[in-house]
Amino acid sequence: MSRIPLIAGNWKMNKDHVEAAGLVTKLWWSLIDGHYEAEQSEAAVIVPFTDLHTVATIIEGDKIGIGFGAQDVSEHDSGAYTGEVSAPMLAKLKCNYVVVGHSERREYHGETDALINAKAKKVIEYGMTPIICVGEVLEIRKEGRHLSHVLTQTKGVLDGLTPEQVGALVIAYEPVWAIGTGEVATPADAQEVCGAIRGYVRDTFGPAAADSVRIQYGGSVKASNVVEIMAEPDVDGALVGGASLDPAEFAKIVLFYKG
Ligand code: PGA
Repeated sequence: MSRIPLIAGNWKMNKDHVEAAGLVTKLWWSLIDGHYEAEQSEAAVIVPFTDLHTVATIIEGDKIGIGFGAQDVSEHDSGAYTGEVSAPMLAKLKCNYVVVGHSERREYHGETDALINAKAKKVIEYGMTPIICVGEVLEIRKEGRHLSHVLTQTKGVLDGLTPEQVGALVIAYEPVWAIGTGEVATPADAQEVCGAIRGYVRDTFGPAAADSVRIQYGGSVKASNVVEIMAEPDVDGALVGGASLDPAEFAKIVLFYKG
């Protein structure tokens, strides 16, 4: 079973909608220059809410062959939830992906596995693909409890989904100690946890779901370290923060398979 790797650039709270137009266009030029083929490695940009309409318009109008999406979503469809953005609103903009449960949402907004699970279900209900984040903080890794911790998170965020739904979604393993720190997990660290997540999916949702679910690694991924991380059998892509703000660098990451 071959899974097409997904390299998603999480811009976080960077770039206004005018800057977003420039960044997406430059990224596309760099990808074209590098002979990008979406069947080899799929690129996507995960942008602030205020950039979505601009990015959607440019991608559609200029026939740019990359995916795009949002960094969070409400667990509600509509109503008195000041400041929130709903899944139907994101679907209307034709978002392909929605990141849920990023460690910065867990840490600064107290998001729990149960809330992340509810958000992922909304994303699926409205026809988009969730990128569901899991990962341990440094203390837990030091105590050697990272596998059980991440598998407990995985159980919580996938609760109640069908095997078909799990097979179609994306899980991003992002060790919190490697995010934005320049401290990248070793390929073996990434493989250990991504392999364990796939094992959990196999045991719980069956072999078809395990073979098709895409599991990304995230945390200080750059052009200089992506090739060795992607060589691991259970790593199907990367969720890239800082390096996704540089279009030439991000294009190199997307084109990792060219060596
Ligand atoms: P980083 O961020 O690549 O800057 O470490 C990754 C992420 O938070 O998704």
